[in-house]
Amino acid sequence: MNVVVLRETQPGETRVALVPESVHKIVALKATVKVESGAGLGAARTDDDYREAGAQVTPDRSSLLGSADLLVVVNKPSEQDIHQLPKGAVLIGFLRPLDEPAALTHAVAQHLTTFAVELIPRITRAQAMDALSSMATVVGYKAVLLGALHIPRMFPLLMTAAGTVPPARVLVLGAGVAGLQAIATARRLGAVVDAYDVRAAAGEQVRSLGANFLEVDLGGLKTEDAGGYAVELSEEAMERGRALIAEHATTADVVITTAQVPGRRAPLLLTNGW
Ligand code: NAI
Repeated sequence: MNVVVLRETQPGETRVALVPESVHKIVALKATVKVESGAGLGAARTDDDYREAGAQVTPDRSSLLGSADLLVVVNKPSEQDIHQLPKGAVLIGFLRPLDEPAALTHAVAQHLTTFAVELIPRITRAQAMDALSSMATVVGYKAVLLGALHIPRMFPLLMTAAGTVPPARVLVLGAGVAGLQAIATARRLGAVVDAYDVRAAAGEQVRSLGANFLEVDLGGLKTEDAGGYAVELSEEAMERGRALIAEHATTADVVITTAQVPGRRAPLLLTNGW
């Protein structure tokens, strides 16, 4: 079986679908791994690293695509790439089937079997494949670091002989995996953190990280489904949340937005008014 790894083409993308450490394991299973030259550079992996792991490396993207039984990607391949795959090949990656279903019609036309990693159920057995949690963890952490770099002050409370500098205030919207990681990171840097989420269970988690949970009276409305995920709220319920968020946003040095509803557009919680 030919397993193919492409160089990602989206601007700013530094990830690669397989690192040499994973290639090594797949080669040990007797599959052939073919990698597009330069695929790992953004992730600090050279072509030689891939060769040492047992992969074949080539700059010829078309021949790679044409020989793929299994194509692994980070981002959905272009229409042109998909049409170069053999009919019946398998495609694995972040394929965004719920937000951009139309873009996958090319994959259907090519009779591909597709696995969208973001839809792998978050059951115990599949935890090693929970691509959403790993990415959300990085995003929450990195968002705080970016915020800390961009504000004209420091995060921690400073008490010096020359005077006292109050801590930065951070507002985190959505307290799932990304939001909780952002809260924890901001707290470690010494910020005072407020957080908002529609799921009641998030309140306890937010408080356990030393942040203040903003509570909105949503009149007993159902805010989560049986799986513990948020549901899309009515415009009236959203408006109640927005008013409280806007009030806290005016005094925040950094606002980090992570709220999402699976399969829907992310809720708009902050408008121009703040
Ligand atoms: P997510 O990325 O889908 O959403 C992020 C957060 O936005 C969620 O906490 C959600 O409640 C919140 N949100 C949605 N609409 C909102 C609104 N209008 N206003 C404010 N906040 C809003 O969520 P994520 O990070 O994937 O986690 C959600 C759930 O999944 C949690 O219950 C978590 O414990 C669970 N989970 C389970 C895992 C497992 O292995 N079983 C792994 C990771 C998460």
